[in-house]
Amino acid sequence: MKIAVLGTGYVGLVSGVCLAAKGHDVTCVDLRAEVVDKLNRAEPHIHEVDLPELLKKVVAEKRFRATLSLEEAMREAAFVLLAVGTPSSDGKIDLNYIGKACEQIGAILKKSDRFISIVVKSTVVPGTTDTFVRGVLEKTSGKKLGQFGLGMNPEFLREGNAIDDFMKADRIALGHEDKQTLALLHEAYLPWSCEKLEVNTRTAEMIKYANNALLAIQISAANELANLCFEMGNIDIQQVMGGVHLDKRWNPVGSAGGRVNPQILTYLMAGCGFGGSCFPKDVQALRTLGQEQKLPMQMLQAVLDINDRQPLQIIRLLRARLQPLEGRKVLVLGIAFKPDTDDVRESASLRIIRELAQLNCQITAHDPIAADNARKELSDVKFSLVTDWPAEVAKVDAIVVATKWPEYAALKKANGIEGKVVVDARRMFRPGDFEKLNYLTIGRRELE
Ligand SMILES: NC(=O)c1ccc[n+]([C@@H]2O[C@H](COP(=O)([O-])OP(=O)(O)OC[C@H]3O[C@@H](n4cnc5c(N)ncnc54)[C@H](O)[C@@H]3O)[C@@H](O)[C@H]2O)c1
Repeated sequence: MKIAVLGTGYVGLVSGVCLAAKGHDVTCVDLRAEVVDKLNRAEPHIHEVDLPELLKKVVAEKRFRATLSLEEAMREAAFVLLAVGTPSSDGKIDLNYIGKACEQIGAILKKSDRFISIVVKSTVVPGTTDTFVRGVLEKTSGKKLGQFGLGMNPEFLREGNAIDDFMKADRIALGHEDKQTLALLHEAYLPWSCEKLEVNTRTAEMIKYANNALLAIQISAANELANLCFEMGNIDIQQVMGGVHLDKRWNPVGSAGGRVNPQILTYLMAGCGFGGSCFPKDVQALRTLGQEQKLPMQMLQAVLDINDRQPLQIIRLLRARLQPLEGRKVLVLGIAFKPDTDDVRESASLRIIRELAQLNCQITAHDPIAADNARKELSDVKFSLVTDWPAEVAKVDAIVVATKWPEYAALKKANGIEGKVVVDARRMFRPGDFEKLNYLTIGRRELE
């Protein structure tokens, strides 16, 4: 079937390419001419594992193209998938891009007498599709729901694993306000054999938020426990969580007799806080939505507060060994909010770099693929980006490992590492990997 995708970011581009790879005919629309040109040359403008190969394949097979013209993309499409950004503004969801996109769609609907469905894929708070989106579409098209279709199909992909997550989706929520849209979504996702949930658009929206909120709750819970272990001393959160992870309710024994080790356990580990384009803004938006309903939303507020403070643990660890910390030379390894992505949005590493800059530290930083994005994001901060991080080790007082990129495993054997303070914000190393007094990490403090 013919599908139009509006927005070619991490979600729009990956959705478009994957739907094309499953046999559909996809046209992606974006506002940025350089992005459209690149995509038509089969060059992705974002970093995502397996994306270059898959994009090349679907462009060559003429099942995927990009355009600046929404009208052209919508001409024969069965539905439009709306995948524009929904950033956070003062803790609330900013619906500017969604609103503008709906106005553009509405203007095209007005001129056409063909039925087409509009399906929101962007993350929007419950009630957005059936009120705001519907309202803008009806106003600008002069039509009523029923003359066009309306759906909400949230996306659960994780950056860095996006293609695999989309291709092997664990469930697909088919949020809809009319039967025709439900039928179209079933047809689009026919090649997927996972559970498909037929729900209204509000429920689909809430599934996405509930999912992210619960994962964020786990991370903040692990971090709070880690900080308590640190204060107590002689308790290592890693060993504690290792014990918790053996509870068969978290980690059942599989049919072969070994532990299943579900991925959920990776959200029950200590670190320097969650980041990325989703968790922080989604938890904030849900908290604010609840408060607007006059609910206190204490749990989500606590999750955000804990997360906001967690990067400061790194400064605390540095201060424990370097007195004064002001003016010291610090190498920060990793700026992306997690490995395998070039996305630095809301990364804890950015916060650490900003805090160090406030202390007049001389900061050098490295990231294998997110350096360009970091440069833009930190344009107001005095720091320098390096490509040859091992060469920096001997020149600095301390090294902070802020993203778990596999290449940083070489730190323990780096030239000049002797005598340097190593702060492991991601529990990447074992305590014995470095000199005892110089290795500091989240959730662990030896009593002297
Ligand atoms: N990134 C993720 O891991 C992820 C995962 C699940 C859900 N989401 C949600 O999906 C949505 C998109 O996220 P993203 O990370 O892909 O965003 P993004 O910022 O990377 O991409 C948004 C794209 O939309 C384009 N755009 C904006 N307005 C447009 C318009 N009127 N016409 C055409 N193009 C337009 C922008 O140019 C940009 O390319 C958000 O709501 C986000 O919360 C993101």
